[in-house]
Amino acid sequence: MKKILEDIKNSSLAAVQSADDPSALEAVRVNYLGKKGSLTAVLKQMGSLSAEERPVIGQLANQVRSEIEEAIAKKAQALSEELLLRRLEEEKLDVTIPGTKVSVGKKHPMSIVLEEVVDIFTGMGYSVAEGPEVEYSANNFDKLNAPEGHPAREWSDTFYFREDSSVLLRPQTSPVQVRVMQTQKPPIRVIAPGRVYRKDEVDATHSPMFHQVEGLVVDKGITMGDLKGALNTLVQRLYGKDAKTRFRPHHFPFTEPSCEVDMQCFECQGAGCRVCKGEGWIEILGAGMVHPKVLEGCGIDTSVYSGFAFGVGLERLTLRRFNISDMRLLFENDMRFLNQF
Ligand code: DAH
Repeated sequence: MKKILEDIKNSSLAAVQSADDPSALEAVRVNYLGKKGSLTAVLKQMGSLSAEERPVIGQLANQVRSEIEEAIAKKAQALSEELLLRRLEEEKLDVTIPGTKVSVGKKHPMSIVLEEVVDIFTGMGYSVAEGPEVEYSANNFDKLNAPEGHPAREWSDTFYFREDSSVLLRPQTSPVQVRVMQTQKPPIRVIAPGRVYRKDEVDATHSPMFHQVEGLVVDKGITMGDLKGALNTLVQRLYGKDAKTRFRPHHFPFTEPSCEVDMQCFECQGAGCRVCKGEGWIEILGAGMVHPKVLEGCGIDTSVYSGFAFGVGLERLTLRRFNISDMRLLFENDMRFLNQF
């Protein structure tokens, strides 16, 4: 028995010494002192010893046990110190390494211009309305006086979601007019900025996704003069007092009369150049007096109210605003370009 205890002591102390991490040390403890450990097994046999042997062996066993426990505690302490030292060594901070540069973002040129447009119109009492990019054909066409069979409804221009053409990616912000008129009573003064989608190939002036700002005013006694005043204010606030506009007759299903508005070319001041393709003028938007059918269709009494509307491309406004020659630059997210604004 004595010999067995000696062996246990020697082998366990050796095992404790060679344990090189906390889990190995714990395994040693379980091996010797655990419920099924070898020292425990010896203690269980104490009953079979003679009355003289029992106290002697008992004392020895207890001594071995406390020696092992002590060795384990010491080793555990040593291991944790070692671990701490190693971590301190590995995680050393080099405060002389240069920091990572945090670059401050910039507003995208289109955001700058949109904020200016919103400022100009809110200053004239307009509020900002929004509508969904996935829209019903009813709001985009029927209610805007472009019934079944109208050429604007062709599948070749518009992204439709359903075979029956009832849902689409809006190709214009004009359906927001319908949503506003169906939920608000006149007087109405809103602008509606947002993304629109068309099946266009990408080039210097086209993209399948672009932005428009819609405008709508409905009140008593609204005339074409109010429309001209609002749009001239927009152009002059954006481009300066000398910016000149030209109103040309045009056709849109949802306005009558309708017009397109050109701005005098910023490059040649109307003389004709490459930028304006020799015209001296650059088209910037469509507008008109809201068609009585559109007003009536949204429940507005045309014997009391009239209105004007316009739709302007935000990319175009931005290109003119900063003299940018190619629309693709606005979508490429090249910081060398964007940092200039
Ligand atoms: N929705 C037209 C387009 O995308 C632009 C437009 C023209 C909007 C006349 C209007 C308007 O509100 O009255 O080409």
